Amino acid sequence: MPEKTKSQQLLERRSNVVANGVGVFNTATVSDAKGATIIDADGRGLIDFAGGIGVVNAGHCPEPVVAAIREQAGKYLHTSFNVVTYEPYIELCEELAEILPHGDKTKVMLVSTGAEAVENAIKIARQATKRSAVLCYSDAYHGRTMMAMTLTSKIGYKYDCGPFAPEVYRLPFPNVYRYKGDRNESTFVKDELKRLRESALNLVDSHNIAAIILEPIQGEGGFNPIPKDYLLGLREFCDEYGIILIMDEVQSGFCRTGHWASWQHYGVQPDISTYAKSMGSGLPIAAIVGRAEIMDAAAVGTIGGTYIGSPISCVASIATIKYMKEINLNQKALEIGSTIRRRLEALMSDCPQIGDVRGIGAMIAIEFVKDGDPRQPDADSCSAIVKGCSENGLIMLSAGTHKNIIRILSPLVISPELLDKGLTILETEIKKTTKK
Ligand SMILES: Cc1ncc(COP(=O)(O)O)c(C=O)c1O
Repeated sequence: MPEKTKSQQLLERRSNVVANGVGVFNTATVSDAKGATIIDADGRGLIDFAGGIGVVNAGHCPEPVVAAIREQAGKYLHTSFNVVTYEPYIELCEELAEILPHGDKTKVMLVSTGAEAVENAIKIARQATKRSAVLCYSDAYHGRTMMAMTLTSKIGYKYDCGPFAPEVYRLPFPNVYRYKGDRNESTFVKDELKRLRESALNLVDSHNIAAIILEPIQGEGGFNPIPKDYLLGLREFCDEYGIILIMDEVQSGFCRTGHWASWQHYGVQPDISTYAKSMGSGLPIAAIVGRAEIMDAAAVGTIGGTYIGSPISCVASIATIKYMKEINLNQKALEIGSTIRRRLEALMSDCPQIGDVRGIGAMIAIEFVKDGDPRQPDADSCSAIVKGCSENGLIMLSAGTHKNIIRILSPLVISPELLDKGLTILETEIKKTTKK
């Protein structure tokens, strides 16, 4: 019997000791990572198109970020911001308020994960409005803590985890590709806005809604962008009823769509927005950003925690944002995105299972369907392609409630050569699996 590779041994040890519920999306391992390359436990170079689920937009181990972490580690690691104030927390909040303005004055709260950011956004919205209901969408993903999990749509993320949080109501996400049918986009959007307004008659009293939460471009749901006119209509609806509009930018934020947040692409401002993932280049840090009067409505003691905004994570985030500005990562995202889109769209005529190529900036996905029908997801082709890519040294991730979507979340600092190499592997696997 051939000797097991180090990666195989590591995965065996993992399955022996780590709870099965911590899923294995890909069998890759890592000993080192830089830019868009991962070196696995056996020294094999892998191209990373998953970016740690959208966390390393600025690349693996950007030098200025690593240097900032090292320097801070030599000063102090933890005091708890509730107990002893430190400057990196304040500097990061100032920076976030500047690049992500909400209304006339913006205030910020830091936490450690995306789910925590969502939990706190809902708590703040409820306190600010003194209302309880929350409206969310199908195919949404907001995390795995109890409120975030309740807001998350896919049952696969929540088997046997109930009872879920009360007063959460769900509308279908206006997914143009899947649900438009024979209608033109404008009629589809009008119909969906009508459904939103009718929710006051058959779902929940609009006067009792504290917040509506959505991802302007859904992440786990399969990179479904919300139509601009729907978002404008939603903003109007929220203003009419005094509802707080929360945009969850945990996956779409920090340059992925060519902006700090995807709402900036739409030009529609939320009242509160949430961030995590790429804002820390891998260090756990998340933010709730919002209009000052709303953020200040939360009573002292109701929001906080021991690890809100670790100083190490704060300096990592400050250095990440500075680096993103210096290398103009938003512009890079637009360039990379247009290359990816062009290459993938070129496959559509030859590969009938590709139903759609969509996204904003470098947040691009390919949806696989049967018989060209948006309502017949083709998960088998999708998983065969992800597996084939993995065998050829490309780490890919699927997405979507039906697992029939491939999403690209490569670091945005990827070189043109490596991007080309990765796309060639992906194209080869798509052609092999889906050719007419
Ligand atoms: C849009 C969105 N919100 C929230 C979360 C939860 O973030 P975390 O995994 O850091 O708790 C995610 C994670 O994928 C996400 O994509």
